[in-house]
Formats: sequence, structure tokens, C-alpha cells
Amino acid sequence: MRPNVDDPGRLIAHRGASRAAPENTLSAVAAAAAQGVWWIEFDVSLLGDGTPVIHHDETLDRCTTWTGSIASLEAGDLPGIFAGRGHGPAFASEPLPTLDQMLDLLGSLDFHANLEIKRHDQPLGAVSEKVAKALVARPWTQRGIIVSSFDLDELAALRRLMPNQPIAGLWTRPPPDWRAHLDALNAAALHLNFREISRSLLAEAASFGFDVRVYTINEPRVMVAFRELGLTGVITDHPPLFQEDQDWADWSES
Ligand code: G3P
Ligand code: MG
Repeated sequence: MRPNVDDPGRLIAHRGASRAAPENTLSAVAAAAAQGVWWIEFDVSLLGDGTPVIHHDETLDRCTTWTGSIASLEAGDLPGIFAGRGHGPAFASEPLPTLDQMLDLLGSLDFHANLEIKRHDQPLGAVSEKVAKALVARPWTQRGIIVSSFDLDELAALRRLMPNQPIAGLWTRPPPDWRAHLDALNAAALHLNFREISRSLLAEAASFGFDVRVYTINEPRVMVAFRELGLTGVITDHPPLFQEDQDWADWSES
């Protein structure tokens, strides 16, 4: 039996509700909750001292008030760094969250989430070790969090540490042997770029019992046919696009 989350994960806010609030922040979780969405995707990167934080890029330049490599920071630097860059005064003091802070907020709100590991230049297994420690300390995550990564070696490292954690293989375009990779990881799901989905891939995944979710889709009409064919979920920057589309209305009920 492949470990899986206890909710199908249909409408998932990408980096939190990242059109309504700065991506990968606690406010982006609050924004998803305000939209009536109880699933988010977020990215985990390591600071130089090994502290896991919620951040997408290898550098701080795009999303924060700081510059340079994320690996040049340590936890003591975080109080002086803000993650609402470009989002105006309302988010001027938005913290760059640690993984512990993010998981505690999600747990308190009964969220489900897709935790995506960003390895960047870290040695193999370094991010997984920190992620495993944070998840093991919070038993709800064993059915509430699905871990993914584009780095399949890193996912294998996580699997060695966590035999029962739900895992999703993540690709832009899945390779021809994607099913062998998912089997080797004992993964429950396949996550891929929405532009690369096909009827045949969806049918094959369904026949082998894999959930399939697509990122980052902000055009509901493009995905309607795949929804009918058994697509499990969508990862979107702006869930109201789907909530306001009648073909997706039942995916918006929480
Ligand atoms: O996990 C789905 C999606 O977030 C992958 O791409 O670059 O937005 O992390 P990216
Ligand atoms: Mg991501």
C-alpha cells in the first residue's frame, strides 16, 4: 500500500494563494483560507546553517528585502529580512517563514499541503534530513502532507528516512519510465507541468492507481477535458479562477 494523504487535494494554492499575497509566506496561507481553500503547495530551501525555510529561489533577490544566496544566511538573520517584496506596504513586515512556523500554522488551521523540496546546491539528503525531523515531530503531517521534488535522488533520500510519508514524483515533463521511478519511491502521485499532460499519460496513471496533479494552471478552461478524464488536482496561483468557473464548482467545496 502506497502511503497517501487523506484528502484528494483538488484545488491547491501554489506557494500559498500567491496572487493575493506574497508567495511562500504565512499571509499566503491566510489568503488561501480566506478563499476557502485548505490545500497549499510551498517550497522548502535550507539556509547556510541548515535551518529549513519557505523559499523558492536559490537567491533572496526576487522575493525578499535582502540579496544574495539563501545559503549565505543563518537563522539569526531572519528577523531583518522581509518576504513581501513588491507587494506594497500591507506586507512590508512579512516574515520569511521557517518550516517549523509554516507547519505549525498549517496544523492549527487543519490544512493539507504539498511540501516541495528545493535542494539547490545542498549535499544529497541535507534538506530531507531537516524536513523529516520537522514532519516526524508533527504526527498530523503523515496523512496531511505530500512531499515532492524535481530532484528524485533527494526524494529517495527522504523515502529512506520516512518509509510511510506520502510522496509525489515531480517533473516538468515526465520521462518515459516515470512509472518505474514512482514505484521505486513508493510514491502515490505524479505532479507535472500542465502543458505536458496527455490523455494517454492520465489513463496510464489512473490504471496503476497514481494520483495526478498539474502545476501551475491559471486557466481553468484549458484543463476541463482532463478533469473529466480523472485528473486528481490542480495547483494554481489563484484558486478563485476555478471557484468562479461552473465546471469546477464542486472542486471548490471544502
Ligand atoms: O510543485 C509544483 C510547482 O511548484 C513546481 O514548480 O518552480 O513553482 O516550484 P515551482
Ligand atoms: Mg514549488
